Amino acid sequence: MSRSLLLLPGDGIGPETMAEVEALIDLLNREAGAGFTVERGLVGGAALDAHGLPISEADMAKALAADAVLFGAVGGPQWDGVPYEKRPEAGLLRLRKDLELFANLRPAICYPALAEASSLKRELVDGLDILIVRELTGGVYFGEPKEILDLGNGQKRGIDTQVYDTFEIERIARVAFELARTRRGRVTSMEKRNVMKSGVLWNEVVTQTGRDYPDVALDHMLADAGGMQLVRAPKQFDVIVTDNLFGDMLSDIAAMLTGSLGMLPSASLGRPDETTGRRRAMYEPVHGSAPDIAGKGIANPIAMIASFAMCLRYSFAMIREAEALEAAVAEVLESGTRTGDIMAPGCRQVGTTEMGAAVLKA
Ligand code: NAI
Ligand code: MG
Repeated sequence: MSRSLLLLPGDGIGPETMAEVEALIDLLNREAGAGFTVERGLVGGAALDAHGLPISEADMAKALAADAVLFGAVGGPQWDGVPYEKRPEAGLLRLRKDLELFANLRPAICYPALAEASSLKRELVDGLDILIVRELTGGVYFGEPKEILDLGNGQKRGIDTQVYDTFEIERIARVAFELARTRRGRVTSMEKRNVMKSGVLWNEVVTQTGRDYPDVALDHMLADAGGMQLVRAPKQFDVIVTDNLFGDMLSDIAAMLTGSLGMLPSASLGRPDETTGRRRAMYEPVHGSAPDIAGKGIANPIAMIASFAMCLRYSFAMIREAEALEAAVAEVLESGTRTGDIMAPGCRQVGTTEMGAAVLKA
């Protein structure tokens, strides 16, 4: 079976952390006959320097053809002055748009070895494993009208419009229900139906869609109460499905339950391909290009490695391999091997390649 990957390491620490994933891909091909074929491309500042565009048409075509895209990070001070439409981030936005990645998956997992370092009480987060499914291509970030009106009397009016159609809610709900089936079988939908019409529709459509998944338990929570519950008792949740705006905030809150930016993976999924049935997908760490530590060999590769584990699970149903990789990360952390960002007293501080090698060995 052939499995095609496009690697877009990007800028800053992107290439450094992607190198550790490449070693894992080689290992899976060698030891497990995984059959990954790997293409490489440029994105962000690296693409800008090479082609004058934040992603070339040739690399866009490769992204559309690949089973999955692994993305590092883009940006850096050397490209701060480039025109808006050519800025490195435009490469990322183009990928999200053209691959129609409407579902953003942000897990919040707390490795026991790091629970001590969490900002919350240990018993609240130890063993935490929740998945936030955020709608990524609709809602108030994109709805029209979107403008600043001059009212003429020294007053202006800023307008953003929350718009959701049935199909947009239904497709994100299906992603959440399908994912819950592979986990603990629970979905919590969050909106504000008490004050928003789009919230009323969201609630209706998720409820309706849930009838197709009788094996999954569905409940609803107002998004503000959901935020409170996420901090008060996060382990009550399995899968949370929510809109673009609430998902932006709730996923950042959830992320902070678990510690460093260097630990956080994400996945963005699109619609299933008509012929293969496989969903378009891109996997990337939550962090950026970290120019302050780029080139020093000290970046934490775990966010990138954990993103690859999500790729194994969601794009290729390689559940056993994904679990083995996540267990390897947990084992390495347990052994006290740490990069600087997650360093703790009594632990051994290592760089990017040593951390990658330790995970590979485990
Ligand atoms: P950042 O995530 O790059 O860095 C924030 C802080 O976290 C820095 O101190 C950095 O050293 C640290 N950090 C991040 N990842 C780390 C890792 N794996 N290991 C150890 N420490 C880590 O965010 P910042 O500084 O706001 O942005 C830097 C550049 O990255 C900007 O050009 C920004 O536009 C871009 N960016 C790109 C993103 C992407 O490609 N998806 C996302 C966020 C920012
Ligand atoms: Mg955010």
